[in-house]
Amino acid sequence: MDLELQGKAAIVTGAASGIGRAIALALSREGAHVVLADIDAAGCEQTLALMRKARAQAQGVVVRADAALLADHEATVNAALEAFGGLDIAVNNAGIGGEAHDTAEMSPEGWRKVIDINLNGVFYAMHAQLPALLARGGGAIVNLASILGATGWRTASAYVASKHGVVGLTKTAALEYATRGIRINAVGPGFVETPIIGEDPKVLAHLASLHPVQRLGQPAEVGDLVAYLASARASLVTGAYYPVDGGYLAQ
Ligand SMILES: NC(=O)c1ccc[n+]([C@@H]2O[C@H](COP(=O)([O-])OP(=O)(O)OC[C@H]3O[C@@H](n4cnc5c(N)ncnc54)[C@H](O)[C@@H]3O)[C@@H](O)[C@H]2O)c1
Repeated sequence: MDLELQGKAAIVTGAASGIGRAIALALSREGAHVVLADIDAAGCEQTLALMRKARAQAQGVVVRADAALLADHEATVNAALEAFGGLDIAVNNAGIGGEAHDTAEMSPEGWRKVIDINLNGVFYAMHAQLPALLARGGGAIVNLASILGATGWRTASAYVASKHGVVGLTKTAALEYATRGIRINAVGPGFVETPIIGEDPKVLAHLASLHPVQRLGQPAEVGDLVAYLASARASLVTGAYYPVDGGYLAQ
């Protein structure tokens, strides 16, 4: 029996760690070939090894790419065309947390860095990916927002603005490409156990307590949602923002 994403060509940015790694594993488990893009190429090699461990026929290529640079997204798309003959799925996941300061104390450089990677990076990614998806006759894009794409968080104005921006960008691009076979959605994880939220047990326990389920999310729980949104099962889903947050936004 064919797997759900058998032979599909996918890009995952930020694939060296955390949620991006789990997304790459989820897509590969369903049969997709994956371009693993990140500034951390060694981490992507580890992700590729995990993909092969999980499924012997797994296929992937590693590209060292900075999400804040349009040229690097173009190179990532070219890697998909060269290795896999086209592009069907793109998951724009690379992101950083940035400075933790109230708005008056946040440095303009810190603000720009977060916006460059988390928001401009998603625009550059889609700008490079959409022509390849159109050439294929359609496909799916999933952008990583956050619960902080729908609500605020003290000391994180740049991050919160970037993720609200990703949601708006996702909705607008979805409208533009709805009749051209490309579905574009955003996902909004609650706090998920990855390096981005640190390792201080007290902080992690506090963050867990903010979610109705009283625990942090696991990267694979986001990977499963992304794999669904990338698949034909989600054929009517576009322009949506899907929280995956243990009930955080229901409060
Ligand atoms: N972990 C959470 O609690 C959480 C919650 C909501 C949303 N998110 C979002 O999920 C995404 C993945 O985060 P994560 O939790 O897996 O964090 P992570 O730190 O484990 O992984 C982020 C990855 O992005 C890469 N990266 C950072 N800057 C980059 C750049 N300029 N170009 C290319 N790659 C770059 C890193 O090398 C790393 O591999 C981010 O967009 C983040 O904002 C995370």
